[in-house]
Amino acid sequence: MSARKLKVVLTRKLPEAVETRMRELFDTELNLDDRAFGEEELKAAMSRAEVLVPTITDRIDADVIAARGPQLRMIANFGAGVDHIDVNAAVEAGLIVTNTPGVLTEDTADMTMALILSAARRVVEGQAVIDRGEFHGWTPTWMMGRRIWGKRIGIVGMGRIGQAVARRARAFGLSVHYHNRRRVGPAVEEELNATWWDDLDQMLRRMDIVSINCPHTPQTHKLFDARRLALLQPHAVLVNTARGEIVDEAALAAALREGRLAGAGLDVFEREPLVHPDLLGLPNATLLPHMGSATVEGRIDMGERVILNIKTLQDGHRPPDRVIPAN
Ligand code: 8YV
Repeated sequence: MSARKLKVVLTRKLPEAVETRMRELFDTELNLDDRAFGEEELKAAMSRAEVLVPTITDRIDADVIAARGPQLRMIANFGAGVDHIDVNAAVEAGLIVTNTPGVLTEDTADMTMALILSAARRVVEGQAVIDRGEFHGWTPTWMMGRRIWGKRIGIVGMGRIGQAVARRARAFGLSVHYHNRRRVGPAVEEELNATWWDDLDQMLRRMDIVSINCPHTPQTHKLFDARRLALLQPHAVLVNTARGEIVDEAALAAALREGRLAGAGLDVFEREPLVHPDLLGLPNATLLPHMGSATVEGRIDMGERVILNIKTLQDGHRPPDRVIPAN
């Protein structure tokens, strides 16, 4: 006999193939017009769902968790990062929290490389020149960026995505340095020919490119504050495809404007969808609207991880992608 279908509430529109499969497997409530839930709608969803499927646009704090109904069993996040969910409060409330690790690694690493190239080689600035009709002919000293090949990249956060960035960086002739809470195993260090720095500040002052690939946690909140940004070399570029809250945007904008930092590539922002006004219009900042995992394949894979986690719960087993609270 097949298990009773769990009541699943999606807070956003997901790829159609994912939604269709979810309707087949579960008693699934879709959000067809894709309007983000406000706090009250989120609380109402928590009061009727057995499994809630939120995304980064839903702030699931202790208040929202307190509004859950007794039937709620799991929060199956569509996305890898869970800093929008109070995981401690959820787990204390007896809920399982799952995410979608692994399936957006390569896409996010690709976008990181795109931003590195754009920031170092002024790709977006060049496009803007064309758009404004200001390309009046090639000159030997115009639009010079910085060479990538032979330089040093410092990766902050050497998890799955950091390692995928490192593999690509090697192919671009970069030597790989990294800072991570824990040193990675010798086999990974050897494969990537990576140099570990336990002291982030020491690493930052020596790098040509810095890529942020760590999660947003209380420890990494504003990790790149004015003091740390000032450690970067003036010719360096900083790329962030992780979470906006890791960087002090006002301090970053000031460094870019004053020529203390050559370029930045940002796919994420401190107060999304708001972008700090000081960042707008800076020629040396490439800004993208959180597109790191936005591929057709990636979003379907993410949906499939969500389905796997819910189906496992429905079948009476432990979902594979459980998020363990930090403390
Ligand atoms: C996702 C992301 O698209 O998975 C993540 O952590 O940052 C994004 O790329 C988003 O989180 C969907 O909820």
